[in-house]
Amino acid sequence: MAKRVLTTESGAPVADNQNSATAGVGGPILLQDQHLLEKLARFNRERIPERVVHARGSGAYGYFEVTDDVTGFTRADFLSEVGKRTETFLRFSTVADSLGGADAVRDPRGFAVKFYTNEGNYDLVGNNTPVFFIKDPIKFPDFIHSQKRDPFTGRQEPDNVWDFWAHAPEATHQVTWLMGDRGIPASYRHMNGYGSHTYQWTNAEGEAFFVKYHFKTNQGVRSLSAEQAAELVGKDANSHQTDLLQAIERGVNPSWTLYVQVMPAAEAADYRFNPFDLTKVWPHADYPLRRVGRLVLDRNPDNVFAEVEQAAFSPNNFVPGIGPSPDKMLQGRLFAYADAHRYRLGVNHTQLPVNAPKATQADNYGRDGLHATRYGSRHDKNYEPNSYAGPAQTDAALGAPLAIHGWTGTYETAAHVKDDDFFQAGELYRLMSEDEKGRLVANIAGGLSQVTRDDVIEKNLAHFHAADADYGRRVEEAVRALRED
Ligand code: HEM
Repeated sequence: MAKRVLTTESGAPVADNQNSATAGVGGPILLQDQHLLEKLARFNRERIPERVVHARGSGAYGYFEVTDDVTGFTRADFLSEVGKRTETFLRFSTVADSLGGADAVRDPRGFAVKFYTNEGNYDLVGNNTPVFFIKDPIKFPDFIHSQKRDPFTGRQEPDNVWDFWAHAPEATHQVTWLMGDRGIPASYRHMNGYGSHTYQWTNAEGEAFFVKYHFKTNQGVRSLSAEQAAELVGKDANSHQTDLLQAIERGVNPSWTLYVQVMPAAEAADYRFNPFDLTKVWPHADYPLRRVGRLVLDRNPDNVFAEVEQAAFSPNNFVPGIGPSPDKMLQGRLFAYADAHRYRLGVNHTQLPVNAPKATQADNYGRDGLHATRYGSRHDKNYEPNSYAGPAQTDAALGAPLAIHGWTGTYETAAHVKDDDFFQAGELYRLMSEDEKGRLVANIAGGLSQVTRDDVIEKNLAHFHAADADYGRRVEEAVRALRED
C-alpha cells in the first residue's frame, strides 16, 4: 500500500522524521530544522485545561427516539411526534478526580446529553443521582475544594470531605445515596441518569409544567462493592471506558428509557416539598413516571480528544418549549458552564464539530475571536437590526413567564411544609434492605472513622441520627468500633 507523504503543518514534505538536522555528524542541532521545532513546540501545547470537575469521562454518539406523546406538556419539536429521532452525544464522567484518576471509584457520575435538534442543540447536563449535596450555587466552589486534593497534602482528605458535610446538613440525602450500593456503578451502561433539577416545559397553548427527567438503564442497574471496586481500579483504571468502548464496538448498544415526572405549574407553590430544592426528590406516588422515549448509543467517537475532551455541555442550551426553573443551583449553572468553556476551549468552542448544531445552523451577529471558522458570505452585515437579509428575531417566547414577588436579598431556600434536611434521607435509608443498610453503614464508617477531629465526627453523626434513629445508632457504633481498633 502506497504511504501518504508526511508533511509539516504548512503541507511541505518532511524528508527525515528520525534524525534532526545537525552541524555535521555529532554536532549541535540547527535552528533551521523547521520540522523538529514545530514538532516539539506543538507537543508542548497538546494539553488544554482539564474540566475543573468531571475531568474524567467517556463519550458516545447515538439517537433519541420518541415513543410516547408528550405534546400536551411541551412544544419542543424534537419531542413532537412518536417515532421522531434526534442525533445525540452523551458524555459520562466521574466528578472529583482529575483526568489521571480511576473510573471505578465512589463518586457521582455525570450523565450529559446533547440533543442535536432542528431547533438548536439541547443540553441536558445531569448526573446518575436524582439529588445533589447542596442547594445554593454559592457553596459549589467550597464543596468541590473539599472533595478534591488538599492544597498541602495533594491528596483527597477524609478530614476535608467530612468537614464540609458537617457544615452542610442538606447533603445528608445525597451522602446516603452515595455511600449506598449505587455509589459505585459497575459501568456507565449499568446506571440511570437524572436531570436532577426541575425544568420548565411549555406546551403549544403556553401552559407551563415543571418536570424532572429520569433515564432508566435498559441494561439493569449494577454496582460494585467497595472491595470489588478497589480490586478493579488496580487492574484497569479505565474500566468504565473499556466497557463502553467495547460494548459499542461489539454492537451491544446500550440504551436508556426516558421518563418524566410532570407537575402542573400551579401546584408548585403548595407542594409539600419545595420543587426547586435540588436536595429533594418528588416521590413517584405524588408525580408518577411518564415514558417519553428511548436513548440509544451506537457509535464511538473517532477521536477522544476532539470529540470527548472538547465536548462542551451547558445547561443553558435550551430549545423552545423547554426552559429553566427557579432552582438556584440550576440558575448558577446557567452561568458556570459556558464561562468554563470560554476558558477551557475558547470563545469559538461552539464551532467545533462535536458542539456545533447538526440539524440546523447557528446564524447570528457574534463575530471573530480566537480561532473563528464560521463567517457568513461577503455581503453579510455584522450588526442588527439592518436593512439587509441577515437573521432576525422570531418574537415567539421560548417558555412561559414566571411570577415573582418579594424583595431582593440573600435568602435561604424556602422550606415547604415537609421540608427539612433529613426526612428524605431517612426515607431512603428505610427503603434499603437489611444487607444494604449494613453496607451503607460500613461505607460511611470507613470514611468517617478516618477523620481526625471529634467535633467533625459528632456533627456528621448528628445528621444520620436526625435522618433515622436506627441509622444514626448503627453509624455511631461502627465508627466507634473502627476508631477503637
Ligand atoms: C452550582 C452548581 C454547579 C456548578 C457551579 C457546576 C459547574 C461545573 C463546571 C464548571 C463544569 C465543567 C464544565 C466544562 O469545563 O466543560 C461542570 C461539569 C459538569 N457538571 Fe456541574 N456544576 C454544578 C452542579 C452540577 C449538578 C447539580 C450536576 C448534575 C445534576 C452537574 C453535572 C455536571 C456534569 C455532568 C458535568 C460534565 C459535563 C461534561 O461531560 O462535559 N453539575 N460543572
